[in-house]
Amino acid sequence: MQVCSIVGARPQFVKAAVVSRKLRTIGDEILVHTGQHYDEELSDVFFDELAIPDPDYNLGVRSGPHGEQTANMIAAIEPVVENHDPDVLLLYGDTNSTLAGAIVGSKCDVTVAHVEAGLRSDNRDMPEEINRILTDHAADCCFAPSKRAVANLAAEGVTEDVYWTGDVMYDAILEARDRAIENATILDDLGIDPGEFVLATVHREGNTDVRSNLAAILDGFADAPHPVVFPAHPRTVDRLEEYGLRERAEREFELLEPLGYLDFVRLLDAAERVATDSGGVQKEAFFVETPCVTLRNETEWTETVDSGWNVLVGPNADRIRTALTADRDPDSNVQPYGDGLASRRIVSALAQRVDDVDPETDV
Ligand code: UD1
Ligand code: UDP
Repeated sequence: MQVCSIVGARPQFVKAAVVSRKLRTIGDEILVHTGQHYDEELSDVFFDELAIPDPDYNLGVRSGPHGEQTANMIAAIEPVVENHDPDVLLLYGDTNSTLAGAIVGSKCDVTVAHVEAGLRSDNRDMPEEINRILTDHAADCCFAPSKRAVANLAAEGVTEDVYWTGDVMYDAILEARDRAIENATILDDLGIDPGEFVLATVHREGNTDVRSNLAAILDGFADAPHPVVFPAHPRTVDRLEEYGLRERAEREFELLEPLGYLDFVRLLDAAERVATDSGGVQKEAFFVETPCVTLRNETEWTETVDSGWNVLVGPNADRIRTALTADRDPDSNVQPYGDGLASRRIVSALAQRVDDVDPETDV
């Protein structure tokens, strides 16, 4: 079996790391990095820490308006797929890199497989929601992280070749958490103690590119009962600068460069609370049982809210303040995202489909 995997943005490196390792035990992988993320701290650090093999191709597409960026990726992915004629084109998540792969794959004779299929936030104003829907409908094979994701696909008529696998980020964090506790020095580096800080990330277009929303988020953080550690995405730093908010953020919070995965997981695990608009971070907070405050009005990871680990507040200062201090009574007995064996199920399902391998084959 030959699989061509498309990655491009930070969370896709985390997801692909665990699948790629399994995949390479029974098949060949051509790893394509679109170059959507190119800064060392958004890309190389993940390849190093997670021992991801060097990409066979780095397409160097970099940043740009959605249409231009996606079109450049399509133009660059197509010849790679034509040249290698892989059995499977494997896509992750909901970025423009995912959509570009789906468009190329759906026009070639290749099985398009989507990891993290079936997620819906029902907010079609977010580019990621459109990327998810289009990719799921272009895919030949959908790997759903939860039963709800399977139901979401069924509600849209996607029922064939849908596999419940559990979530690959759960696999990833199970592997990383102990390593992070043993090796990461970030708590000492920052001089902070477990349970005595809030970890914050912000990068959604709707939060960063609207000044009043970004300012409201800073207002909400300003009254947090603990210091706020804020590793900021470059787009967020650019906007803070542009809106004249950077000095304030540096003065009031521990504003940092984006962190490597192990340092980030260490902080996530040790934080009293997490405040984020990230999809992956909401889920990871749930996995390590750190209460999460989500700076959006809806989420595709709805199970984290139902279980009481996550509350949705949007870019609203009062609601952020309240959520950062309110008591929680979350349910620790739910496991909607599987058992940490998602990558194994994905690789088994692909092997069965392509090579007619026994589904019980140990990968
Ligand atoms: C992208 C994804 C988002 C995902 C996020 C993960 C889309 C539409 N968005 O958002 O779903 O949650 O990645 O982090 O695919 N930039 C740099 N250096 C880099 C990369 C980006 O400085 O290495 C800056 C550029 O100014 C760029 C901006 O960040 O314009 C946005 O980058 P882009 O990849 O378009 O979107 P993200 O916000 O990173
Ligand atoms: N992450 C990281 N360092 C950071 C912020 C996030 O390693 O400074 C990791 C985080 O643990 C998760 C992934 O990046 O695995 C989430 O990426 P992001 O929030 O950029 O994207 P999303 O999940 O929202 O698409």
